[in-house]
Amino acid sequence: MRILVNCALPYANNPLHLGHIAGAYLGADIFVRYRRLIGDEVMFVSGSDQYGTPITIQADAEGISPADLARRFHIEHKKAFEGLSIKFDIFSETMRKEHHENVKEVFLELLKKGYLYEKVMNSPFCPTCNRFMPDRYIKGICPHCGYDEARGDQCENCGKVLDPKDLISPRCAICGDSPEFRDTKHFFFRLSSFQDNLINWLKGKEYWRKNVLEFTRNFVEAGLEDRPITRDIEWGVEVPVEGYEHKKIYVWFEALLGYISAARIYSSQQNDPERWKKYWQDGNARVYCFIGKDNIPFHTVIFPAMLMALERFNLPYDVPANEFLNFSGKKFSKSKGVGFTVSEVLTKINGDYIRYYLSSIMPETGDSDFSIEDLREKVNSELIGKYGNLAFRSTSFILKNSLVPRPGHDDEYPAVLDFLREKFALYRGYLDGIEIKKALHEWLEVVQFGNVYMNRSAPWKLIKTDSDSCSSKLYTVLRIIHYATVMAYPFIPSSAERIWKMIGMKTPLESSFHTLSEEPSYAPIKTDPPFSPVELSSVNPNSLDLRVARIVDVQEHPNADRLYVLKLSLGTEERQLVAGLRNHYSREELIGRKIIIVYNLKPAKIRGMVSNGMLLAADNGKDVRLLTVGDHAKEGDRVRIGDYDYNNHGRIEIRDLEAYRLHISTIDGKPVATASVDDETLVLNCRGESVFPERNIEENSRIR
Ligand code: 2FM
Ligand code: ZN
Repeated sequence: MRILVNCALPYANNPLHLGHIAGAYLGADIFVRYRRLIGDEVMFVSGSDQYGTPITIQADAEGISPADLARRFHIEHKKAFEGLSIKFDIFSETMRKEHHENVKEVFLELLKKGYLYEKVMNSPFCPTCNRFMPDRYIKGICPHCGYDEARGDQCENCGKVLDPKDLISPRCAICGDSPEFRDTKHFFFRLSSFQDNLINWLKGKEYWRKNVLEFTRNFVEAGLEDRPITRDIEWGVEVPVEGYEHKKIYVWFEALLGYISAARIYSSQQNDPERWKKYWQDGNARVYCFIGKDNIPFHTVIFPAMLMALERFNLPYDVPANEFLNFSGKKFSKSKGVGFTVSEVLTKINGDYIRYYLSSIMPETGDSDFSIEDLREKVNSELIGKYGNLAFRSTSFILKNSLVPRPGHDDEYPAVLDFLREKFALYRGYLDGIEIKKALHEWLEVVQFGNVYMNRSAPWKLIKTDSDSCSSKLYTVLRIIHYATVMAYPFIPSSAERIWKMIGMKTPLESSFHTLSEEPSYAPIKTDPPFSPVELSSVNPNSLDLRVARIVDVQEHPNADRLYVLKLSLGTEERQLVAGLRNHYSREELIGRKIIIVYNLKPAKIRGMVSNGMLLAADNGKDVRLLTVGDHAKEGDRVRIGDYDYNNHGRIEIRDLEAYRLHISTIDGKPVATASVDDETLVLNCRGESVFPERNIEENSRIR
């Protein structure tokens, strides 16, 4: 079969985090590897989504050009995917000229066919910023779910597509002002005229995931309105019509066409420029779109309608959308500082281990929760303890005793083969239907069975009495490992490759389906244990949420003469904190000062007053010096320990602080605040600058 797998084009404005990977990319890569394994012809496509307001807003915040930002994150995205062995045939960019050409061609064709028309809109305009407020430039309350941070084009919370006019209490996302409404001319896509066709098309989609189908049906049945597909913005694909020099094509309209542009670019790169048509225009090919759930309406309604309008294209065969991956109950989000980015975890944990764990908790039918402890436990006990260990102990035993594994003297062999075939059939059924977790579970059952079989056969005893039978039992074990390794390949390609070599297989693993029905002679080779366990100390040790705060008020504690009650500002919030500074600082010396606090300390009552957090100060037993930071750091900023961002592991208690051995060190002749973690001395820092005591104090003074 010929299969085109498209994977949502990630915005090039933020690093990819594990939520993205579990949401769309890993499932797609597993599916692609599986289809190739069984002999299908597959094209696997994605790329960076480099236009629209997500890019311009972030570029403004960083003070760089949108193009520079989009290039930087494109390169980062590619690295992240490489590190996780997510291997697209092409990971394109929407900034490429071929994409611009493709989009403009489509735009003009739709215009000619009458599916686009011009209309004057009354759009929100920010008088303070002096610009229209498309999409993410406007925020407000979602009229459907009440979420307060809904954007002008979509509510992130309930997934509904919005018009800025729908927002309750709209405000400018940049300056907070309320909008005026001004007239502006735009192109509209006649989405409304596809309602019946879409309803009919959805009738054949019973095999879709329930959440995707239901969401889509409700969406279409609620009535479709024509949608503006140009914007008052400078960053995007040009509108190929006179009078639109200062407007651009809406990012979603062109990004969806990015799938087609990328397939075209890839085909040209392969010196087969028409090849993409075999996927997009030959009715026998299947088109899949792997996406996160917030992208559903664009892929199941708007994109299919665009393709219907173009007439000659295949519509998506399936749109497997995952739910969200949570981190300690909250949605992964780099901007909100929840969870890990791909590059953060990859410095600590092998890519296959991350793939294995994410596959085992993939949020296919409901949200799921990520935890490092759980990852360690699953990888160590299943992948390493069961799979790696079975391969290692069986091959080592064979080599040590110079055995030649061969079939013929194991009565149970036919029954084992039946079991393996049955498991493999189940596994295929699940992967054909993109049920990743269930397929992985079948693999685990095979591996578990292999361990039981090895133990029950006890070759270490058999070798003393019946070496033929011993060799045959081991042949059966290798046959189990053979199956398990083919089945493991889509999930953990590099690890499976290693085991493949260990049992002496020579054929390429990535297309090894046919080897299952053969009866190969296995010739194990000598190796070290194939995998090393995940150590907890190898993962981000920083559970201290340290932040910059400013002292805005100081009162004497009513019940204690050494204590002050401080009021702190952290930018968006205020806090009260009790500190023993009265013998060291006057009120005047404190007010306005920038300090560092432990933000995630459990609140406590100190002599009747609530203290929420703890400030950090160096103390040599005599003097006390508050810690502070340079001018770049702002109230509310996070302080890192060395390269470690806070790992979001929740609240801590005072005694947990001990483990960090916070103290003053001298670096380049200056006193700075440091922590000792895993025998390394790491400097506390914020915005590239070290944290330091506000006045000098000797080296090794403790920080409390
Ligand atoms: O949600 C997102 O990250 C979008 N950039 C996805 C676009 S998918 C398609 F249109 F390319
Ligand atoms: Zn504004």
